[in-house]
Amino acid sequence: MTSEQLRDLVVGVNTPTPVHDGREVPYLNLDNAASTPALKVVRDETNRMLDWYASIHRGAGYKSQLASAWYEMARKRVLKYVGADLDYHCVVLTHNTTDAINRLAAKFPHDNDQSVVISHAEHHANDLPWRDRGKVARVPVSPAGEIDPDDLDKVLRQEAGRARLVSITGALNVTGTIQPIHDLARVAHKHGVRIAVDAAQLAPHVPIDMTGNSEDERIDFLMLSAHKMYAPLGGGALIGPREFFATTCPSVRGGGAVMAVEPDAVFWAEPPNRDEAGSPNVVGAVAMAASMRALTEIGWEVLEDAERRLTKRFLEGLDKIPGATMYGLGPDQLDRRLGVIAFNLDGVPHAKVAAALAYEHGIGVRNGCFCAHPFVLTMMKVSPEEARTYSEQVRTGNKSLIPGAVRVSFGLYNTEADVDRVLDALAQIARGEFALEYEEESSHGEFHPVQGAIDFEHILSNGLHVGASVG
Ligand SMILES: Cc1ncc(COP(=O)(O)O)c(C=O)c1O
Repeated sequence: MTSEQLRDLVVGVNTPTPVHDGREVPYLNLDNAASTPALKVVRDETNRMLDWYASIHRGAGYKSQLASAWYEMARKRVLKYVGADLDYHCVVLTHNTTDAINRLAAKFPHDNDQSVVISHAEHHANDLPWRDRGKVARVPVSPAGEIDPDDLDKVLRQEAGRARLVSITGALNVTGTIQPIHDLARVAHKHGVRIAVDAAQLAPHVPIDMTGNSEDERIDFLMLSAHKMYAPLGGGALIGPREFFATTCPSVRGGGAVMAVEPDAVFWAEPPNRDEAGSPNVVGAVAMAASMRALTEIGWEVLEDAERRLTKRFLEGLDKIPGATMYGLGPDQLDRRLGVIAFNLDGVPHAKVAAALAYEHGIGVRNGCFCAHPFVLTMMKVSPEEARTYSEQVRTGNKSLIPGAVRVSFGLYNTEADVDRVLDALAQIARGEFALEYEEESSHGEFHPVQGAIDFEHILSNGLHVGASVG
């Protein structure tokens, strides 16, 4: 499949957006690690589903029964997509990865004498939910964010008798580093501890095989978000051992999660319904399944090959820009990283780089600490004392010049021309060539043109008539 054919699979990739001089240029989204646009098949399947949409599980009508079947088929598709062991795993459908991890954490009663082992490179979603469950032990990581299985082994030895779960990210949302999840599973299992993988970044980019080659290598829990996988309708998943869900208290409580309720007693349903109280997001689940089917049909060889080509081109181009610093593994280690790339340009604040890309070049990237503050500050060699000073500064409402980086992240629809476009723009910024003057808004740490920011409410109220509205 050519890159043009891949591009043609995605909705809205050529939407014209305004830039500083009144021109409209095709929007270039390079913030796919945050959220991806929808696949056309996702849009079509969702539209088709809406004609048949009805309450599920408890409805007797034809549409209700059809929608229930559609929802259950989505569940099967998720299990297939992640290579689940059908004798061992089941899937709880959630809103996103954050929701999935919080639901999992809720199943571990608070106990200060027990710990959960995470790494020093976690997204806040896989850090904060564990903090009020008891002790959090952290495995150190390399500057690129890699976990060495021997380091996990050491931490688990220190935590002997205390650790009740290892929960680590499968691929970093900052540097794109892919963790050796099956090696880490082997170490965790050697210590009799289960392993959970935050697959928010992994799932859209590489094939996942939760079953592994042996029980030792099996991934016990896995969490993912559909909006990062071309299905932005609020789907997500928590996959885990059926027996675990059957023997732990439901993470949320309410209708749909019970077999029987008496005034003084509750008899919970079998998994996964036991953990899906409330009306489920049927459309989100169907959208997620449609995307998973499409990605599988495109094939991982095609997807991985395309991403590696773009990543290599970008890394090599970035290396030629004077003053550019890239964090993470280089172009010689493409099999161990995703096309999620964090960097800085000397002398230009990350927020100003992002603003100039947006206002002058029609390019969307992410900047800041990417919800992984502890790791990003370490990556940027900010000392713990300095980090504390920044934290105090932010708490007083001043986010100006907070350390961070710029992140470019590729989706399956990006092309080599996209890479060249962003590299050209970055080279101009590195040379100090700005068409607009910018000022920093200290409460948010964002840069906007002094000529004025865009009034998006006005644009939306005017039926999305964009016009020449930048600067
Ligand atoms: C590694 C990682 N984990 C978890 C999350 C949280 O995902 P969500 O916002 O979909 O819950 C993200 C989002 O960027 C992420 O990159």
